[in-house]
Amino acid sequence: MNNFIFKNGTKVIFGKSTEELVGIEVKKYTDKVLLHYGGGSIKRTGLYDTIIKSLDEHNIEVFELGGVKPNPRLTLVQEGIDLCRSKNIDFILAVGGGSVIDSAKAIGVGVNYEGNVWDFYDYKTSPEKSINLGVILTIPAAGSETSPSSVITNEKERLKRGVTADCMRPEFAILNPELTYTLPDYQTACGAADMLAHVMERYFVQTEDVRFTDRLCEATMKTIIEQAEKLIYDTESYAARSELMWCGTVAHNDILDTGRGGDWASHSMEHEISAMNDIAHGAGLAIVFPAWMKYVYRENKGKFLQFTTRVFNIDQNFDDPDETILKGIKALETFFTNIGLPTRLSDIEFDESLIPEMAQKATLNGPIGSFKSLLKDDVEKIYNLAL
Ligand code: NZQ
Ligand code: ZN
Repeated sequence: MNNFIFKNGTKVIFGKSTEELVGIEVKKYTDKVLLHYGGGSIKRTGLYDTIIKSLDEHNIEVFELGGVKPNPRLTLVQEGIDLCRSKNIDFILAVGGGSVIDSAKAIGVGVNYEGNVWDFYDYKTSPEKSINLGVILTIPAAGSETSPSSVITNEKERLKRGVTADCMRPEFAILNPELTYTLPDYQTACGAADMLAHVMERYFVQTEDVRFTDRLCEATMKTIIEQAEKLIYDTESYAARSELMWCGTVAHNDILDTGRGGDWASHSMEHEISAMNDIAHGAGLAIVFPAWMKYVYRENKGKFLQFTTRVFNIDQNFDDPDETILKGIKALETFFTNIGLPTRLSDIEFDESLIPEMAQKATLNGPIGSFKSLLKDDVEKIYNLAL
C-alpha cells in the first residue's frame, strides 16, 4: 500500500427534502449568491422555486446564470467570471450535475485570477484559491459534488480538459435522491456508467497489498450494477435511487484510491470522444472501457480474474484464464447494453477518420495510464478496438 493523505472537506447533506435546507447552508457563507444551473430541468421539476424560496427566507440576494450545457463550455465560464466580478459575488450555488458543478468550479477559480481561466486547463498554472461553492446535485454520475476536479470544454479548440485542485472542492453538497426521479433513463444509465468507471479507474492499478480498498471497490461496483439494473423496471424506487446516489459520490470522493494509484487512461480517451462528438461522458466510457480492458488485461491477469469472479460471480476456468477474463469484459458490456448504452463507436455517429487526431490529443502531455502506460499508437489501437 502506498503512503497517502486523505482529506475530503465537503459536507454531505443526504436524504429526502434536504434541498429545503439550502438557505441555511448558504447563509453561513454569504448574503449574495450566483445561482448556476443548466438547460432548464430545475425549472421544469419545481426545484428552482424551492431554492428561491429558501434563499429568500434567509435574505440572500440571488443572481442567476443558467444555460450550462452537458460538456460545459468555456464561453459560459467566462461570462460567469465577469458576472461575479461586476456584482462582487463571493459564493456560487451550483444546481445540477457534473457539467453545472464543473462550470461553477471554473468560475470560482477564475474570479480572482488575472489571466485567462483556460490557463488552468492548459496546465500553464494551477489554481490556488477559489470563491466558495455549494451544490445541489440532481444527477448521480460525475462525483463532482465532492471531488476537487473540474472538466471544461474549450469549444473553439474542441478540447476537453480536466483540472484537479483542492481549492475547487465544494463546501457542501445536498443530495436528495428524490430529485433524480425526473431523469431520463438514458441519463440515469450514463451516470451509472460514469460512477462505475470511476471505481474501475482506481481498481485497475498495479499497486499491491490493497485488499481493503479492492473490497470497497468491488462492493461499490456490485451495488452500482445491481441498482442501475433495478431502475430499468422501477424508475421511482427510492431505495435504488438512494443507493446509486451515494455510490456516485463515494466512487469519486477519494476514499477508494487511498493507498493506491489510479489509471485514468479511459477517462482521457473518453474526453476526446465527447469533445469531438458531444456525446454524454458516461456513454463514451461505456464504449471505451471494454476496449481498454481487452487491450491491457495481459499486464495483470490476476487483477482481471479477481474482477470477473468477484464482481460478476463468474467461475474461473483454471485451464484458460483468458477465457474467464473475456467473459468478465463481456459481462460488463452486457450490463451497459442492458441499461441502454452504446458499447461501440459505431453505435454513435462517429467519423473513423478522427481517430489519429483524437489519439494525438489524448497523449498531448505524454503517455496516459498506469496499469499499462499508453502512447499514441496504443490509444489508436484501443479506439480501433472500440469501433
Ligand atoms: O441541463 P439540464 O436541463 O439541467 O439537464 C441535464 C443535462 O441535460 C439533465 N439533468 C440533470 N439532472 C436532471 C436532469 N434532467 C431531468 N431531471 C434531473 N434531475 O441531465 C443532463 C446531463 O447533465 P450533466 O451535468 O452533463 O451530467 P453529468 O453529471 O454526467 O456530468 C457530466 C460532466 O461531468 C464531467 C464530464 O466530463 C461531463 O462534462 N466529469 C466531471 C468530473 C469531476 N468534476 O470530478 C469527473 C467525471 O469523470 C467527468 O469527467
Ligand atoms: Zn467520469
